[in-house]
Amino acid sequence: MPSLAVALLIFVHLLAAVVWVGGMVFAHFALRPAAVEVLDPPRRLPLLAAALGRFFRIVAVAVVVIVASGLALIAQVGFARAPVGWHVMLATGLVMAGVFAYIHAVLYPRLKRAVAEAQWPQAAAALDRIRRLVFFNLVLGVVTLAAAVSPRAG
Ligand code: HEM
Repeated sequence: MPSLAVALLIFVHLLAAVVWVGGMVFAHFALRPAAVEVLDPPRRLPLLAAALGRFFRIVAVAVVVIVASGLALIAQVGFARAPVGWHVMLATGLVMAGVFAYIHAVLYPRLKRAVAEAQWPQAAAALDRIRRLVFFNLVLGVVTLAAAVSPRAG
């Protein structure tokens, strides 16, 4: 593969990872605690549901871009010759994608439904599960970053 194509693949791969991991840091450490501090549940839960809906649409694109560009980059070297760190990145990246798919397909619709029906305790429960899984993915994202750069350590 020409080196410009490889550079472009790495560029979109990193851009998507920055958007996903950075967005999780913002949601977990800035948006949610601020919303808890400032708003009561009937105002906070619709705001967080609307903000997460927008974020998850962006993440859905980022996940497809990360997995597709990552697989293309590994294929270019060959799975057998790829460093262990890349195999770890593939494994943890796929777990992250699976956790995101579960949040997006199962938990988020539950949150949206509860908010639409003004069922605040159910909405809070769904949001709490989303919060824990987003934090899990954030930790796994950091592990994935470490795996990604590990081959550089020699
Ligand atoms: C899901 C499947 C994934 C696959 C198959 C994959 C594959 C790859 C490959 C092959 C490279 C090396 C590119 C090269 O130097 O030629 C790479 C780089 C990188 N990936 Fe992934 N990746 C995946 C997910 C992720 C995720 C989720 C993150 C971040 C959370 C991530 C972060 C990075 C970073 C930071 C680099 C640059 C490493 C460096 O140049 O030192 N990757 N990825």
